[in-house]
Amino acid sequence: MNINSWLRQIQAPPITEVKSWLGECDTAAKYPLLDLCQAVPNYPPAPELIAHLHQALDDPATYRYSPDEGLAEVRADLCHWYQRHYQSVLYPDQICLTIGASQAFWLAMLCLCQPGDEVIVPLPAYFDHLMALQSYGVNSQYIPFDANSGGLPNLAAIEEKITPRTRAILLVSPSNPTGAIIPPQQLEQLFDLAQSRSIVLLIDETYNCFIGSTPHQLFTRSNWHHHFVHIASFGKTFALTGLRCGALIGSAELIEQALKIQDSMVVCQPRPTQLALQYGCCHLDSWIVENTVIMQQRHAAVTASFSAGINEFELIASGSFFAWIKHPWGDMNSRQAARNLLDKAGIICLPGEAFGPGLKSYLRLAFGNIETNQIGELIERLKQL
Ligand SMILES: Cc1ncc(COP(=O)(O)O)c(C=O)c1O
Repeated sequence: MNINSWLRQIQAPPITEVKSWLGECDTAAKYPLLDLCQAVPNYPPAPELIAHLHQALDDPATYRYSPDEGLAEVRADLCHWYQRHYQSVLYPDQICLTIGASQAFWLAMLCLCQPGDEVIVPLPAYFDHLMALQSYGVNSQYIPFDANSGGLPNLAAIEEKITPRTRAILLVSPSNPTGAIIPPQQLEQLFDLAQSRSIVLLIDETYNCFIGSTPHQLFTRSNWHHHFVHIASFGKTFALTGLRCGALIGSAELIEQALKIQDSMVVCQPRPTQLALQYGCCHLDSWIVENTVIMQQRHAAVTASFSAGINEFELIASGSFFAWIKHPWGDMNSRQAARNLLDKAGIICLPGEAFGPGLKSYLRLAFGNIETNQIGELIERLKQL
């Protein structure tokens, strides 16, 4: 069959690849698996959200389509949520509810770019972004990773990469895979750069709830909608990853165009997901804070252990969900190193090379997946290697 040859050049989904190793090794006999692979909060959704959904499932209306962009009342409640968490006034026509942040990214890219256009991508980058950009023929202009940067983007390097084909600067903050949080002031500078070069600053803020403070003030700029596009994942915020709960936020004009793709791609975010999101937005601010504190405790435990020294493993950058580490095996690429960790220590994690070229010395540990009291076990196993 003549399958689009562009797709053959793209890496296979890395989580699927890494998880397939589980069937090939017998580590489980020695150790219970420590799964630091796919980033999934290890706690369940709030019990009251689950109870709310139980009730909603009795209502036949729950099983119907909604408007393409999502129910008006859900988007209105989401605007209030943004008012509290970003101190910003958003309007429902600036929001499209999506099947996770993943679909929001597709909508954004298809609205902003044509095949052959360029997007500036500081490395390491979230692997699904790289795979999506390759799928639709947009050229990623990589900024190589600087291990001394703490995972923060370099403004001058970004500016140098801008060409007449550049459509956007793509950032993830807090970063997947480094955990680094781009400070609000740096985001302001990046917005100014995007504005001065008539391009878009696109920020995937999937992990924003783990920052514990207002991520930035960009939405308070009167012209934010001309140069800023925001991607959200409430899958992480409310522990609803399986409900596929995301949003695209941008100018009303962008959303109007995005709805043409939304309609032909998925029609709408499923109603049960919208109802869960609405409940979370209206009732779960303090639940989010409790879980943010837990994530920050895990992060503190990880950084303290690495600064005390763990063989030759080096912590290069980290944040509330992720540690981006350098592995000590110079003769191995990161796939081999990740496989070694699984075979010898029962730790499953992602190889750095999944996050772009030139990253074979690194591994991503999604420690947000495990209980705080399992972090000691993780460190012990690394020490024994
Ligand atoms: C940076 C980033 N964006 C998007 C996603 C996907 O989010 P969703 O599950 O809402 O599609 C993830 C999931 O891990 C992520 O890390």
